[in-house]
Amino acid sequence: MTRFEKLKSQIDPKKLPNHIAVIMDGNGRWAKKKGAGRLYGHKNGVESVRAIVEASVEIGLKYLTIYAFSTENWSRPEDEVKGLLKLILDSLVNEIDQMSKNNIVVRFIGSNDNLSLEYQKKIQDECKKSWNNTGLNFNIAMNYGGRLELIDAIKEMMPEIISGDINKDNLDEKIFEKYLYTSDIPDPDFMVRTSGEKRLSNFLIWQSAYTELYFTDILWPDFKKEAFLEAILDFQNRNRRFGGV
Ligand code: IPE
Ligand code: IPE
Ligand code: MG
Repeated sequence: MTRFEKLKSQIDPKKLPNHIAVIMDGNGRWAKKKGAGRLYGHKNGVESVRAIVEASVEIGLKYLTIYAFSTENWSRPEDEVKGLLKLILDSLVNEIDQMSKNNIVVRFIGSNDNLSLEYQKKIQDECKKSWNNTGLNFNIAMNYGGRLELIDAIKEMMPEIISGDINKDNLDEKIFEKYLYTSDIPDPDFMVRTSGEKRLSNFLIWQSAYTELYFTDILWPDFKKEAFLEAILDFQNRNRRFGGV
């Protein structure tokens, strides 16, 4: 038995999280340790994405969301930003057929601000190839920021507020959530962040109100299937109370 198979056999399918969100962090530091440029780290990070997507399919996970590019990441050097945008699109193009074969539904969530129409269309056209699938829902948070998502939701709601369809008597969490990028995605029950940083960095801030958090020092390009299963095993030993007793 491989170490992966051993860990997999320890997972209780009845206690599997429904939705795992991942903050992939540490590509730059990983590359630096190797004496290479930051983009080398990002390229190697794609291998870790492939690994955890495969592991997610193998264990029968329903939802996986990864943080690929934040609204704050535009502040990085121009070369890195350009490289990241290209890497994200190229990886999607390279992987979409294999992911489709694995019955994965691929979606991008985030803002369109600052992304060219051409880029948006390419992403959309690739993702569409997977939309008849019924397996793992794989969401890529790209140009995503939790605060911008809340502002965008209010902007989307505005016409219905003006018409009176939404008013202060009927507005509740359920209605509000319909206007988020994640309207048809359940809240994550588990969030993993690599590289030792312990913060959300504007990721799914509304949706993570009751999410279990997991931090590991492993840098993203070193985070592989086994580390992912170890994280899930940690989740399975937790006691979630949701404000109750
Ligand atoms: C995460 O790695 C990838 C993205 C933010 C796109 P970083 O690039 O943040 O790596 P560090 O944190 O500088 O090591
Ligand atoms: C969070 O990582 C964003 C992504 C993983 C896409 P960052 O490296 O950008 O976050 P900070 O700067 O450490 O908060
Ligand atoms: Mg970082």
